Amino acid sequence: MIATFDVIDIRKDFPILNQTIHGKPLVYFDNAATTQKPLSVIEALSQYYMEFNANIHRGIHTLAEKATAEYEATRDKAKAFINAAQREEIVFTRGTTEGINLVAQTYGRQNLKAGDEVIISGMEHHSNIVPWQMICEEKGATLRVIPINEQGDLLLDEYEKLLSEKTKIVAVVYVSNSLGTINPVKEIITKAHQYGAKVLIDGAQASAHLDIDVQDLDADFYVFSSHKVYGPTGVGVLYGKRELLDAMPPYQGGGEMIREVSFGKTTYNDLPYKFEAGTPNIADTVAFKAALDYVTTIGKSVIGEYEHELLTYATESLQSIDGLQIIGQAKEKISVISYVLEGIHHQDIGIMLDNDGIAVRTGHHCTQPLMDRFCILGTSRASFAMYNTKEEIDRLVQGLHKIKKKLG
Ligand code: ALA
Repeated sequence: MIATFDVIDIRKDFPILNQTIHGKPLVYFDNAATTQKPLSVIEALSQYYMEFNANIHRGIHTLAEKATAEYEATRDKAKAFINAAQREEIVFTRGTTEGINLVAQTYGRQNLKAGDEVIISGMEHHSNIVPWQMICEEKGATLRVIPINEQGDLLLDEYEKLLSEKTKIVAVVYVSNSLGTINPVKEIITKAHQYGAKVLIDGAQASAHLDIDVQDLDADFYVFSSHKVYGPTGVGVLYGKRELLDAMPPYQGGGEMIREVSFGKTTYNDLPYKFEAGTPNIADTVAFKAALDYVTTIGKSVIGEYEHELLTYATESLQSIDGLQIIGQAKEKISVISYVLEGIHHQDIGIMLDNDGIAVRTGHHCTQPLMDRFCILGTSRASFAMYNTKEEIDRLVQGLHKIKKKLG
């Protein structure tokens, strides 16, 4: 139990941080790509394999019952984590990408027709662009894009102009992985609902940083990944309002998602199992519970406040570097800073920082249309988590000064 936030204590929970890279203490600033895992998650994973590995929902033996109970307990935790109304509204997926594809291929395929429109935004990750392009192409629907301004904010007036009776689905990112912008999703949802459109929120980057309340947002669908919330890879959550999930056809056929199978006809299982065909990722789902507990115990408002301090400190410190431009200066941001350094390729920055023990992501961050909007090929991105420190940010700034001296 952590009563007050102490970053030194927090860091002790993350064994991976305690190592050197190229002879320098690791600075891990690639948290938007994936977060590191606390010991409790690592132990939960190994405990599952050491003590109760079994297939779920099938056996009546003791191990199977224990594995089933632990797996289903994660569903209850996930329900509470995003304040869903019912546990049946929580579907486990492989991650955010699979959740979006599931909705596009089931709800989208069932409800879109020629002439309809799907609205996304100009700062979407490829995983919230391509699934909609695919289904729009198949159905003869049109994809519309909310533009963004130079700061990296959505142009809400333009969004309102795009909305019409033709709009059937709006799919937008809560927090941009490349810019850090926090979008006003509640307002976006309210406006979409005035036209009868359903809204999917990509919560991949938001869920570790912001309190999520799907009922307050009135989101129709909300998707996120465990591995960006300090949990294992290979698990994600699709939240959907029960009446929508009930009316949707299954995504994949197989074991678990059925009620009765004959060669003539198959009937489908109840929610959420209708959408969980085959043996799921039991181990990682069980360990995901430990991650949700970890974050909930500390509290996202406490985490958010600390990360905001890091963001402010980094923004000010980075601005001391000549020729450095921060891409994405929205008023409401989480702790992500993308930047370009005049005359220096982002990949060179990434390699040279790595030589200094500092891990950042470089490139287009799976948001090529967004990079086009800013007329750049890519950025170097530092994304902070609760275990990062101001001293680490100082190391980044020193590293960038060194690079500038050498290559600038
Ligand atoms: N979407 C992840 C990122 O932004 C992988 O790095």
